[in-house]
Amino acid sequence: MSGRFEAQVVLVAGGTGGLGRAVSFAFLEEGAKVVVTFRVQEEFDALKRAAGTTGERLEGQLVDVTDEAAVRQLIENIVRKHSRLDVLVNTVGGYAGGTKLWELETKVFDQMIALNLRSGYALTRAAVRAMLKLGRGAIVNVAAKAAFDHAAGAAAYAASKSAAMALLDSLAADLKGTGVRANTILPSIIDTETNRKAMPNADFAKWPKPEDIARVILFLCSDDARVIQGAAIPVYGDS
Ligand SMILES: NC(=O)c1ccc[n+]([C@@H]2O[C@H](COP(=O)([O-])OP(=O)(O)OC[C@H]3O[C@@H](n4cnc5c(N)ncnc54)[C@H](OP(=O)(O)O)[C@@H]3O)[C@@H](O)[C@H]2O)c1
Repeated sequence: MSGRFEAQVVLVAGGTGGLGRAVSFAFLEEGAKVVVTFRVQEEFDALKRAAGTTGERLEGQLVDVTDEAAVRQLIENIVRKHSRLDVLVNTVGGYAGGTKLWELETKVFDQMIALNLRSGYALTRAAVRAMLKLGRGAIVNVAAKAAFDHAAGAAAYAASKSAAMALLDSLAADLKGTGVRANTILPSIIDTETNRKAMPNADFAKWPKPEDIARVILFLCSDDARVIQGAAIPVYGDS
């Protein structure tokens, strides 16, 4: 264990998901106390078991991160218990595609906005306040290549990811000089179980593994990245 994040408190929203698990394990490996949000208790229990001895530093909170009041409460609880919040990584998101805009159900549009934009809005607003009190902190929000690459049939998804990237970019400008940094990463296709099931004939070797993307996220949250503010970093691998 290198201990880059020893004594730091890290919140991984969506920490039981395909990417979130790898991010949570990576922070635990490097000495952090990690709080994850989850929606299904069994998924958190499985994460804790898989974390082995590092799981002693892993906590879980059942929170809908699109609910601003619940998120505010979550951050208050973390700060009350640990007296600090050093890092926020938001891996919550969802995908909807394959439907032309005029055929899209509005509830799907609302879902995309909630999962991909409102989650980051609620989490960053609450986390930044705690970080400003410390005079330091790092935020990474996960958007997607679709923030730039607006494919047919994915208007709601692309719009929500594009807006999420803009949100962090503007937030980063607000944060200049505060010691708190905000950056975005842009995955294309990640080598997750869900994607393997959805695209069984694809060449999985071309997809970055969650662990590879987690490494980039940890770098962005580390002091080595202290000059990186407001970046949107592609992590496409060969896909
Ligand atoms: N996978 C890809 O190929 C890919 C490509 C580009 C961008 N991305 C982005 O990368 C991020 C991570 O993707 P992923 O594949 O790891 O997704 P994932 O496996 O679906 O994980 C997302 C996590 O967020 C949780 N979540 C969903 N809605 C929530 C809510 N309202 N409140 C709290 N937690 C909630 C999910 O919980 P449940 O398990 O209970 O649903 C899950 O743990 C997302 O932003 C995604 O859009 C992924």
